[in-house]
Amino acid sequence: MTQKEYSISPTGEKFPLPTKQEYTKEFNQLKEIVAIQRKLGREIVVVVGIGFVGAVMAAVVADSKNKKGEPSKFVIGMQRPSVRSYWKIPLLNRGMSPVKSEDPEVDILIERCVKEKKNLVATYTYEVMKLADVVVVDVQCDYLKESLGDCRNGSADMVALEASLGIIAENIKPETLVLIETTVAPGTTEQVAYPIMKKIFESRGINSAPLLAHSYERVMPGKDYVASIRDFWRVCSGVNQKAKRKITRFLKDVLNTDKFPLTVLDKPIESETAKIIENSYRATILAFMDEWSLFAERNGVDLKKVIEAIKVRPTHSNMIFPGPGIGGYCLPKDGGLGVWAYQHIHGWEDDIFKITPLAIDINDTRGLHVAQLVRDALRNMGQPIAAADVLLLGAAYREDVGDTRYSGSEMVVRKLTEMGAEMLVHDPYLEHWWEFEVQDTYPHPEYSWARFFHRQEKLKELRVSKDLWKAMKGVKAIILAVRHAEYLDLDPQKVVKAVGKPCAIIDCFAILDDAKIESYFMLGCEVKGMGRGHIQRIKEKVRKNKLRSKNNVLK
Ligand SMILES: NC(=O)c1ccc[n+]([C@@H]2O[C@H](COP(=O)([O-])OP(=O)(O)OC[C@H]3O[C@@H](n4cnc5c(N)ncnc54)[C@H](O)[C@@H]3O)[C@@H](O)[C@H]2O)c1
Repeated sequence: MTQKEYSISPTGEKFPLPTKQEYTKEFNQLKEIVAIQRKLGREIVVVVGIGFVGAVMAAVVADSKNKKGEPSKFVIGMQRPSVRSYWKIPLLNRGMSPVKSEDPEVDILIERCVKEKKNLVATYTYEVMKLADVVVVDVQCDYLKESLGDCRNGSADMVALEASLGIIAENIKPETLVLIETTVAPGTTEQVAYPIMKKIFESRGINSAPLLAHSYERVMPGKDYVASIRDFWRVCSGVNQKAKRKITRFLKDVLNTDKFPLTVLDKPIESETAKIIENSYRATILAFMDEWSLFAERNGVDLKKVIEAIKVRPTHSNMIFPGPGIGGYCLPKDGGLGVWAYQHIHGWEDDIFKITPLAIDINDTRGLHVAQLVRDALRNMGQPIAAADVLLLGAAYREDVGDTRYSGSEMVVRKLTEMGAEMLVHDPYLEHWWEFEVQDTYPHPEYSWARFFHRQEKLKELRVSKDLWKAMKGVKAIILAVRHAEYLDLDPQKVVKAVGKPCAIIDCFAILDDAKIESYFMLGCEVKGMGRGHIQRIKEKVRKNKLRSKNNVLK
């Protein structure tokens, strides 16, 4: 007898993977449910991949209403029953969100559609595609980097996407609309997906063209997660006029396109390219600030005030202070998908890309500089980095979210560990920092950033502390890594009291104002900040003031 396999949810609940016999039963049940839903006049929508995007998109579609104010869709979230992800299915079927979000609407929406409206379910059987009128593809398409700081040395990982497209083509009806929402290498819909599906259609004796469309997600982790899917502008296109008509109607049905009008582009490659440029543009602005951040640090300039001064000019209002990295799932990879597509999908041999890959490389390695600042601050206090307890505040890649994917903080922890520091972490939004706890397999087997550094083994034991003040006790340095609300107004007196002695404070995100920096120096701490060269002036001022008071006492 083969051993039963389990999938374990983040809260530790064990779910046995379905057996072969269960598949037939599952599909028969779905057929019965779908027959009832069809009688209600509802369109059947299958969302493939119920991860960060798919789970919420599925709920948004289910929650949409027709002109009479009634649900017009029945939604089935389809997820492959892997050991890693199967647990998402039973959880969603209980009305619980498989993704953790800071937006309370995610849980409410999923519960409402599953339990009250009863028009959202989840399944593991690919046969469900046979029942679909629309299939929305939300599986991942990663860009796997082979080196640190050289994203050209990498490739698009299309395995999951190509596998799903094949299975979809084997099962769907010829008239089913297939919407690819996955961020893909530009050209994928027409030059990868279309041929895969057309060939399978032909082998099934179907002569019509697959109705393929592309529309990308602009979803933003945080408190407006649902709105960033539903109440936001969308771009789309289709492989032919029919696909374009169908995708336009579908998106108008499910999204708030009255307030946030849809842009329909001529061809899917244009919609795919729009997504890649959009994110590369953002990554580039941030990377551009990296050199000015160093300039500021070395020449007595406070980059925070400089950026604020520039931003008053309306044409420059979206300038951003660069933190210790870029992070999130999309910005570190999307430009890579574009560069890769140029050669591997479109067959060009020359090298036209300069800025896009360079921006990713700069952003990917910006966190390393934080380790240098910690080292220098401790050195100024006469202490070595080796064996020093260093507390990192904020593991997520941006403020007030619990998303740690490719966060600059991970780079900081890895580099400081390599340099001999003992790392401690606090983050109010996290229970686990999986990038460390399961670094042998996460985000992919053999693709952890651990492989770029020495002495990473012990980081599997790294646990996220939930008690900020307790975590500070006795540490030699504190890194303010993310602008979480909880860190914005920490009182220097209280911090030093909690630590028990003066320590080094490293500000990666312009969190400290000048008064706080001065207070830390008054309390005997050392302060350093990314892009904050004026700190040296404040230090000098405090030193002179201290000297003056000492001389006054002696007089
Ligand atoms: N997360 C974001 O903030 C964000 C924002 C905009 C765009 N996107 C894009 O959306 C896409 C999905 O991202 P995500 O964050 O939801 O990823 P994710 O990894 O959270 O979810 C993907 C899901 O698809 C499942 N899956 C993979 N292969 C499958 C298969 N063959 N059949 C069925 N299920 C399969 C996985 O198990 C997983 O649950 C990506 O292209 C991403 O770039 C993400």
